[in-house]
Amino acid sequence: MKKSLKIAVIGGGSSYTPELIEGFIKRQDILPIRELYLVDIEKGRKKLEIVGALAKRMLEKANSTIDLKLTYDRREAIKDADFVITQIRVGLLEARARDEHIPLRYNCIGQETTGAGGFAKALRTIPVILDICKDIEDLAPNAMLLNFANPAGILTEAVLKHTNVKTIGLCNIPIGTKMQIAKLCETDVSNVYLEMIGINHLNWTTRILVEGNDITKEVLTKASSSSGLTMKNVPDFGWDANFLTSLGALPCAYHRYFYMKEQMLKEQLDSFKTTGTRAQVVKRVEDELFELYKDPELDIKPPQLQERGGAYYSEAALDLILSIYTNKGDIQTVNVKNNGIIPCLPNDAAVEVNCVINSDGAHPIQPRVEIAPQIRGLLQLVKAYEELTVIAGVTGDYKTALQALTIHPLVGSVELAEKILKDILVENKDYLPQFNKREVLQN
Ligand code: G6P
Repeated sequence: MKKSLKIAVIGGGSSYTPELIEGFIKRQDILPIRELYLVDIEKGRKKLEIVGALAKRMLEKANSTIDLKLTYDRREAIKDADFVITQIRVGLLEARARDEHIPLRYNCIGQETTGAGGFAKALRTIPVILDICKDIEDLAPNAMLLNFANPAGILTEAVLKHTNVKTIGLCNIPIGTKMQIAKLCETDVSNVYLEMIGINHLNWTTRILVEGNDITKEVLTKASSSSGLTMKNVPDFGWDANFLTSLGALPCAYHRYFYMKEQMLKEQLDSFKTTGTRAQVVKRVEDELFELYKDPELDIKPPQLQERGGAYYSEAALDLILSIYTNKGDIQTVNVKNNGIIPCLPNDAAVEVNCVINSDGAHPIQPRVEIAPQIRGLLQLVKAYEELTVIAGVTGDYKTALQALTIHPLVGSVELAEKILKDILVENKDYLPQFNKREVLQN
């Protein structure tokens, strides 16, 4: 009999946590959890208490034996944990709203995870995740860190390059895409196999198999009209048919920010005037969710949670934990060290690819399809931006930050990069200790 697990969830007061709890409950017969720690910062006390009480009701209803603990002491939670899950939002939704708004001032896309918005989020989050890793190295050196916090690829790369922590970066897009394709092809999700290549929020599905048959071409034809192949937080404009069939792969929802830049920017500017940034929309959804969570009669995950872009993220986390725990050897798409799997990217870069999952972790498998130049070009450019962002996030070097932002395809000029960077540094100064060490703000 294998030992039961201790799991620490950092950012446990997140509105998404009930989804994670539901995932543990669904698997309680096959995945024995001994202790589940939900950790948050003092500032998140109210949220942690509300989510924690709901989690308790959900576990009680399911007759779960999990010992649920709420704490503000991260070290207590991490000590001897088998898995540490990070779902943190440094600076809360207020910081996200600024990330999304600053680029819009300069007619650039303002997005939570990519472009200048994702860049700001990376600068804020890198020091925090590296700090969490110090605790893991110290108190649970064998633990596996599963990171969901965004930008997930950049954070995974920072952890891989700057710590000794075993880590896998996770996103709900691979599982979400599988579900969307299953729906499109009117089949069960278990019949769908996807080969994905790329980096987080910039991955291409290069092969689509349903019941073993390669239907990539058919899906690309169907996907050109608006077809539900998107996430809740990214508008579905369909795809240009000629573009899609000659691309030869299915882009992810976030590719729209790159391939349909003008249309996406217009959409953002229009909705900014009416509903505000996505962060403001999410804030309203979250407030409603927390009102629901407070109800002492509620003991399930409310369906409203599926309106969030990160829906089904717990499926990804729990499938992964289960496969590691049971040494399953199945294939899942996760963020790991490249190690030559994508030859046009550095070996030490984080990539999002299909991996075999067993008790030693995630092992990338060689894709069958070669990377076409139209994919390679964008992939290399955005990866170079990510490499520079990791350096800037760790060192607080202004010039590296400027290079990163300048080459990002959603910024693309020094003049814009300088203006945006100045705003980012000024408006995030409470969260950027690495930059505040230097005399950068007058640059
Ligand atoms: C997507 C992404 C997640 C992101 C989420 C945001 O699904 O894959 O990484 O966190 O959307 O959703 P939200 O509802 O917060 O805009």
